[in-house]
Amino acid sequence: MPANLNLHGKRGVDLLHDPRLNKGTAFTEEERDALGLRGLVPPKVTTQAKQLSRILGHIRRKQNDLDKYTYLVSLQERNEALFYRVVIDNLDEMMPLIYTPTVGQACQKYALIFRRPQGLFISMKDRGRVKRVMQNWPEPGVRMIVVTDGERILGLGDLGANGMGIPVGKLSLYTACAGVAPQKCLPVMLDVGTNNEELIADPMYIGLPQNRLRGPAYDELVEEFFTAAQEVFPNVCIQFEDFGNTNAFRLLERYRDRACTFNDDIQGTASVTLAGLYSALRVSGADLASSTFLLFGAGEAGIGIGHLIVEALKTVGVSEAAARRRCWFVDSKGLVVSSRNDLAEHKLHFAHDHAPVSDLLEAVETLKPNMLIGASGMPGTFSEPVVRAMASLNKRPVIFALSNPTSRSECTAEQAYTWTQGRAIFASGSPFSPVTIDGHSHQPSQCNNAYIFPGVGMGVIASAARRVTDEMFFVAAKTLAGLVTEEDVRHGRIYPELRHIRNVSAAIAAAVADVAFQRGLTDMVRPDDLAAQIRNEMYNPEYAAYV
Ligand code: NAI
Repeated sequence: MPANLNLHGKRGVDLLHDPRLNKGTAFTEEERDALGLRGLVPPKVTTQAKQLSRILGHIRRKQNDLDKYTYLVSLQERNEALFYRVVIDNLDEMMPLIYTPTVGQACQKYALIFRRPQGLFISMKDRGRVKRVMQNWPEPGVRMIVVTDGERILGLGDLGANGMGIPVGKLSLYTACAGVAPQKCLPVMLDVGTNNEELIADPMYIGLPQNRLRGPAYDELVEEFFTAAQEVFPNVCIQFEDFGNTNAFRLLERYRDRACTFNDDIQGTASVTLAGLYSALRVSGADLASSTFLLFGAGEAGIGIGHLIVEALKTVGVSEAAARRRCWFVDSKGLVVSSRNDLAEHKLHFAHDHAPVSDLLEAVETLKPNMLIGASGMPGTFSEPVVRAMASLNKRPVIFALSNPTSRSECTAEQAYTWTQGRAIFASGSPFSPVTIDGHSHQPSQCNNAYIFPGVGMGVIASAARRVTDEMFFVAAKTLAGLVTEEDVRHGRIYPELRHIRNVSAAIAAAVADVAFQRGLTDMVRPDDLAAQIRNEMYNPEYAAYV
């Protein structure tokens, strides 16, 4: 038996029921004899490759995406290695199923498809005993936690405890895209209630049917969770996911210098978007230093993007103040300007002196942006006049409609290409199919955080970094953009193809770990060959031999 493999004395049915160890029909003759499996699985020994094609057949015969999602979750619960084989070898097809957009539907219908719990539920009833709850988790070596309180699930709003599908899906991507071993991953739902009255009234709802905990009691629970997580799982990195923006910015500020933590909605989104903007500049031949950005939606995603664009502009010689003035925001009340007295704190950095402007079209016409980025959760808001205005201002208008899931996208790929006569450089949060205009096919890009967070997480784990810094996200964006090939650019693609994602993540992980070593953020000794070390650590879903 390989030295690192521990069956914990399991044999027979116990082995088959442990998803981390189960191989189903691929147990060899020797293993069947040695581990009491004979008769418990059909007699013909198969290979993982044969199992893979059988599973793909099952999935492809399913009528709809939610059924495919449910099937994949149940596969993950019975044979983890096979699940990851299926996902890794078919990322283009599987990623939209295990993550956005299908995971959004899954969260909305969580009570209906709920079979058995995945991850750890910590509720407001657990105040005072959070550490003991965390100690119930069976894996001691957790290095990456994704935690949500379910208040802002994708662009779908408050889904309370049903939001658990998001950390589960996201951690699957850490494993599939960057090789973070599944036993190092822990999804956590902080069930602090929900203000979604429909859920509270639903007898099938799995969460606490009461309104959200707010104020000091909420903060105390989060504090207890952070302290317990760091004690129970030394060196753990905690990723905030889909918190409402009143808590998201605040909590990130509170913990970023005290713990190894980041918020993917703010920092990961910023990084993948900046990478896309760098590539868009390559496609259009335009210049970063003279570009103007209009961001529609001044929440976590938008403001995070704004801050990272400022950092990028500073690297090409633009002063901080001038860089901020290149980033304009429109929120639900119109242009974010300094004369407004209704602005949340996170918007103040970008509240410029300007006359009030009430709508997006007027903002486009007034500010003449080169890049229009939507992160509002408001579908259809990049209307025909807005997109046409961008097209009349720019030879190659950059239009990113980032809101998820697909139903929330500010415009569709087809609309962006049609209304710009195919000139748009378009990216979206959820995937769109190619669009043909006048016989010419356009391939929309997916500005998918999965290009960034798995690699960043892997780099933080591999270097045992004590902190996750903005510099790491900037370096990740640069690395990602640098992996876009000339051929990609020729095809209008602003991100590498998904099938390269494990290489992309490995490169980002090495770059992020390098920042940790250079900045003294780790006590680890730097390995001679950092990139090789990271590749060695990457989880591989091949079956291990047990005997
Ligand atoms: P958030 O709730 O923090 O922010 C939403 C913002 O949109 C708020 O500033 C709000 O004022 C603004 N808004 C709402 N209605 C508006 C309207 N009618 N006109 C203009 N602005 C309006 O949410 P967050 O985290 O910023 O996410 C926003 C969207 O971006 C979501 O749909 C989310 O799924 C998507 N997103 C996409 C990512 C990607 O493509 N890689 C990553 C992260 C988020």
